[in-house]
Amino acid sequence: MSTIPELHIAPSLLASDFGHLADAARIVEEAGAEFLHFDIMDGSFVPNISMGMPAVKALRPVSRAFFDVHLMIMQPERYVEDFVRAGADSVTVQAEACLHLQRTLAQIRRAGAKAGVALNPATPPEVLEYVMDDLDMILVMTVNPGFGGQSFLPAMLAKVRRVREMIARTAHPIHLEVDGGIEPETTGPVTAAGANVLVAGTSIYGHSGGVSEAIHLLRAAARSEE
Ligand code: DX5
Ligand code: ZN
Repeated sequence: MSTIPELHIAPSLLASDFGHLADAARIVEEAGAEFLHFDIMDGSFVPNISMGMPAVKALRPVSRAFFDVHLMIMQPERYVEDFVRAGADSVTVQAEACLHLQRTLAQIRRAGAKAGVALNPATPPEVLEYVMDDLDMILVMTVNPGFGGQSFLPAMLAKVRRVREMIARTAHPIHLEVDGGIEPETTGPVTAAGANVLVAGTSIYGHSGGVSEAIHLLRAAARSEE
């Protein structure tokens, strides 16, 4: 029997005003978010292009949050050291974009960051079975990566439960993060299934009552595993 680690909110800058990124980073930290989620897209692994190392570097001096860098790029091993140097606390690579996943995870840790793996909706968690000792975070994509504002895929709840079981069998702590369509309505089921890091873009930066109220609503909607 394992206990679910503490809940963390990870606002995704993708949904913020890119003209005021520093303000976007500051207001969510002030509102109590422990993580700041960077969506890095290359126009190849996903159709969209977003931001790169310079954005991480520019925000490092204005925030003490845990910089959670999600690489939606092909062959991410080419940029691991650059992102860590820019200020990433964790680097999460898409399993589908890595030919030699174990090597890339070891590379991330060697560079001094926590190592994460993200799984597309169609990717089974079993691909991680033999690299569990090499990772610190598993990101279950609850939409297909590439764009903010999409709807949560309910079929991912079973995957979150399965990943939580896999984590319970490992000897070291591993965060279970979910990303895509996370809002108060989906937070209850996903946290009950075992997620403990909630990435949210639209439901935080697009909330009409402001980011502080949005973060409060997400926390209030979270449930511990039954
Ligand atoms: C999707 C990104 C997400 C995205 C989530 O490719 O990985 O982090 O910003 O956006 P929302 O919360 O709007 O679904
Ligand atoms: Zn993301």
